[in-house]
Amino acid sequence: MKRVHFTIAALAGVALCAGLDYREPYRPQFHFSPRRNWTNDPNGLVYDGGRFHLFFQFNPFGDEWGHMSWGHAVSGDAVHWRELPVAIPEAGGIMIFTGSAVVDRRNTSGFCLAGRPCLVAVYTGHSEKLQTQNLAYSNDDGRTWTKYSANPVLNLHRADFRDPNVFWLDSAGAWIMVVALPPQHRVLFYQSPDLKHWKEAGGFGPAGATGGVWECPDLFEAPMEGTGERKWVLKVGLNPGHISGGSGEQYFVGSFDGARFTPEPEGAPGPRWTDYGRDCYCALTWNGLPAGTGPLMLGWMDNWQYADKTPTSPWRGQMTLPRAVSLRRTAQGIDLLQKPAPALERLRGEHMSYSGTSVEGANRFLDRVRPFGDSLELTATLEPGSAREFGLRVLKGDGAATVIGYDRATSTLFLDRTRSGEVGFSPAFPSRSAAPLALRSGSLPLHVFVDKSSVEVFAGDGEVTLTDLVYPLPNATSVEVYGNSGTIGRLRIEAWRLHSIW
Ligand code: FRU
Repeated sequence: MKRVHFTIAALAGVALCAGLDYREPYRPQFHFSPRRNWTNDPNGLVYDGGRFHLFFQFNPFGDEWGHMSWGHAVSGDAVHWRELPVAIPEAGGIMIFTGSAVVDRRNTSGFCLAGRPCLVAVYTGHSEKLQTQNLAYSNDDGRTWTKYSANPVLNLHRADFRDPNVFWLDSAGAWIMVVALPPQHRVLFYQSPDLKHWKEAGGFGPAGATGGVWECPDLFEAPMEGTGERKWVLKVGLNPGHISGGSGEQYFVGSFDGARFTPEPEGAPGPRWTDYGRDCYCALTWNGLPAGTGPLMLGWMDNWQYADKTPTSPWRGQMTLPRAVSLRRTAQGIDLLQKPAPALERLRGEHMSYSGTSVEGANRFLDRVRPFGDSLELTATLEPGSAREFGLRVLKGDGAATVIGYDRATSTLFLDRTRSGEVGFSPAFPSRSAAPLALRSGSLPLHVFVDKSSVEVFAGDGEVTLTDLVYPLPNATSVEVYGNSGTIGRLRIEAWRLHSIW
């Protein structure tokens, strides 16, 4: 009897703890965040044996940047995550900075046991005056890792040389590494037969935006929509110098032969930005996806301008949603298109829709969304009528809201969080970011995800995305349509309550 009581008490305790987990104020319900402590960039995104691995820059000892190690989470669908113990810890004064992981199917490295493929991580080892590229490997599906005894595998004796992005390129018959020389605004390409011996093959840059250091390159092939063609995308992080302030990312589209990346001539001058919001940095695409799927990309949803001050506890930092990436040719050049990963549809619960021409009618409908306005997916097609500015206010309450608006005078879509709730923790936080976007047949197609502390906007066919962290006031969960200086035309809105992934 005693024993039974003890068990029940213990179970209640466990349930209580589990109940508290992932329910803190601002805790994202469908974006990955570590249970506790600091995270920044995603690392080593690799798909193997039916599992998506997400490694991430992680401080095992606190909620500020430091002791950088690779944290680890796994998922069957890149949406529902289970956090595992730290994969690759800092040791001997060498931090484990950003990098890649690959499946070594043919045991080119010699690390794989018993004729089975193994995982190999390629990361930057960071100490005060030196950054080098290093290997670690795992023969148990990424649970435990062994650092290569002959590390580093690449050393230019530089303080800034980081973030290797590694993949197998069939046409070159070699592993390719793209790695950044941050202050030079340049990436270098290396080739290797075995992941251990690397030979420089070429480089790219400076090019495009160079207002800050270049970090976190990712080079991947993506399909051109409506054609059978594929082209190469080179994405690089820029910190600071992003169009909306602080850290952000630009991309180039072209061809890659294993040594040379040749960008296509652009129709319009100026850098191409992957996201126009404040909080999408160091995104990576998954390695090892089955042929015919992908690319699938996920980034750190934050900005170095204030990442150490965001008001969350006991964790700090979260990831964007996974996004399916493709390309489309336009008069301005080739656009990168991002769409929410189809697997996100699994989170959909209660569904409602509205179609009509009255703002009041739409807002009566949107009142019903309020109970789940901070775990919400919305698709909307808004026709402006004579309004000069129109859009949606989300996370609204007590005089605060986050505004997703369209300004017809400048043909820009903007995301305004200046009065989104808690904004005072950093002077760099309140902001209004804008992206050029033409209306489509006179209307604005939006796909919006609202979580406890973020708003992610996919506009048009995903040629524009705006991703922002927000810290709304308690119970600010209302949504409304608005139009300034004029009428609104036809409105079509669908809304889904999204289930928590935890
Ligand atoms: C980018 C970055 C990377 C580096 C990592 C360290 O956010 O500065 O260049 O590897 O963070 O945590």
